[in-house]
Amino acid sequence: MTQISSRVQAIEWHQNTLKLLDQRVLPHQIRHIECRTADEVADAIRDMVVRGAPAIGITAAYGYAMAALAGADTQAAYKVLAESRPTAVNLFWALERMASAPQQPQQLLAEARRIHEEDIAANLDMANFGASVLGSNIGIYTHCNTGALATGGHGTALGIIRTAWHNGQVDRVFAGETRPWLQGARLTAWELMQDEIPVKLSADGAAAQLFRQGAVDWVIVGADRIAANGDVANKIGTYSLAVLAKHHGVRVMVAAPLSTFDLEMSSGDQIPIEQRPVSEVTHLNGQAIAPANCDAINPSFDVTPAELIDVIATEAGLIHNPDSHTVAELFQRQNPS
Ligand code: MRU
Repeated sequence: MTQISSRVQAIEWHQNTLKLLDQRVLPHQIRHIECRTADEVADAIRDMVVRGAPAIGITAAYGYAMAALAGADTQAAYKVLAESRPTAVNLFWALERMASAPQQPQQLLAEARRIHEEDIAANLDMANFGASVLGSNIGIYTHCNTGALATGGHGTALGIIRTAWHNGQVDRVFAGETRPWLQGARLTAWELMQDEIPVKLSADGAAAQLFRQGAVDWVIVGADRIAANGDVANKIGTYSLAVLAKHHGVRVMVAAPLSTFDLEMSSGDQIPIEQRPVSEVTHLNGQAIAPANCDAINPSFDVTPAELIDVIATEAGLIHNPDSHTVAELFQRQNPS
């Protein structure tokens, strides 16, 4: 099968410094932020310099290694990094993996590099599994940004789209703009254009009409945390897309590495949902778009019940009709006891 990588690189380690592509100013500025302490790494995650569940985990792993290399307290680094964002379980998964590794600084750096490389490999495998069930001449609608910017490279949902495009299976890609932070408009559209994959940007509210017109065969999205019963927490707006898809007979695929599963949560109701500043809703690029002092809500994620999802693509294979049995089966195949 074909494997193809993105040109975009969000996370780079150079001489004990973490260089992050600043996703707050894309696509109009290409700017990098250099982090030299775990505190700076935690700030970069919280402020969305780097975002996307797998990328947050990788960044936190480098932050932990950075503390060890500087002779700083790794437990304090763990704490400050763990407090940066609450929903993406990859953050806690990566920190646990770092805390369980031999605590010698160079070995910790090697572990962070492994987490990074394994994520790229997982994306490429997941992309081949996901693309294998899409069919041909298809229209795809995606939400948020799940590409090389949100992962170690290639991407989860966007990785599947990239691979399927390269295989010649895709006729149309629509990227939902993803209010309020506009990951779709600012990042996904840019990332696909960098790789010369044609994309049509769509206002979030246009999805239903697109589905009704038959322009979309698959909704493909990523995940920030998947519960043991297959419920998926992902960017706010994913749940409404899944409900719309069900109504219109459009299939729904979620793409995520095994590090995004949280089997300790029996259902999505237990997943903590990050509430971000309401200024992200009331303002755009620092400019007010609502009346002064207008109150607002800004839940950053929602939970899509498993019954609205047709398939979850992972690096270990596909979970069709996810529920507690089919999710457990995949993990049992991975770790037979
Ligand atoms: O708030 P963000 O931009 O970090 O949210 C990102 C998402 O919701 C993605 O869909 C998810 O992390 C999967 S990314 C591979």
